[in-house]
Amino acid sequence: MIIDDQEMVTEAVLQAMAEAPSARLREIMAALVRHAHAFAREVRLSEDEFEQGVAFLNRIGQATNDAHNEGVLFSDALGFSTLICLLNNGNAGAAETASALLGPFWRMHSPKTDNGGSIVRSETPGPELLAQCRITDPRGQPISGVEVDVWQASPVGLYENQDETQMDMNLRGKFTTDRDGRFWFRSVRPAGYPVPTHGPVGDLLRAQRRSPYRPAHLHVLGFKPGYKTLITQVFVAEDEHLETDVVFGVTRHLVGNYVRHDEGTPPEPGIQAPWYTLEYDFVMEAGEAKLPVPPIK
Ligand code: BEZ
Ligand code: FE
Repeated sequence: MIIDDQEMVTEAVLQAMAEAPSARLREIMAALVRHAHAFAREVRLSEDEFEQGVAFLNRIGQATNDAHNEGVLFSDALGFSTLICLLNNGNAGAAETASALLGPFWRMHSPKTDNGGSIVRSETPGPELLAQCRITDPRGQPISGVEVDVWQASPVGLYENQDETQMDMNLRGKFTTDRDGRFWFRSVRPAGYPVPTHGPVGDLLRAQRRSPYRPAHLHVLGFKPGYKTLITQVFVAEDEHLETDVVFGVTRHLVGNYVRHDEGTPPEPGIQAPWYTLEYDFVMEAGEAKLPVPPIK
């Protein structure tokens, strides 16, 4: 097609893509082009701004490596990851869901750990946390044999892969639910932390005067054939950043009751006050058990 004016460009592109054999690819790419062209028209994107946008995308790729995923971070900071999560869980967005965004810090092969064991693998100062969790189906029936990955930042707000002082796989563990659907473990109370801001996403947050902080949380990924893989987080209700999570991950359902204990007999030897307990029940829906692509190695 010979293009006469700006309006014709959209039609020309849509026509050029119309023969793709995959109906889903046709649908997605046609919508992407329509919306991207409409966006450029709406904001009257200048050539300078377009150049900046392309450079920004290139920098996202350049900042991504085996230990850091700037692409996931960008999607998270735009609320896109949470939107995709809520559209695809909880009865296709119609009902409350136990799911939340994965984030850029999940790693495969967390160390298998017995129930009751600790995920603290190198010295990690901070108040102890005892978590007692349960996984059921939507009717409340326990699901046994779920492989559960747990991961969290340390009380100084860093994941082990960001922090040379922590041992490999510190504050990560893989548990299996027992016949009552329960898994339980020891850890330290997680802290809120700023998302990495050394790359283009950090530049964007600064330009927008946005706080880079996430409220303190524990990540959980539950996997069992026959059930849709559960990816979620449980937040500390008292955290000052609960309402301003930079990646929009906090839904009402995921605010946990981390109870502080200042006195009394600690539930296990070696625990000093104050310690925290968390009791939380997760629901897994029937569906396809599929692991996400790990954002980092
Ligand atoms: C996280 O919770 O690990 C996370 C999620 C999104 C962006 C950065 C970190
Ligand atoms: Fe996190």
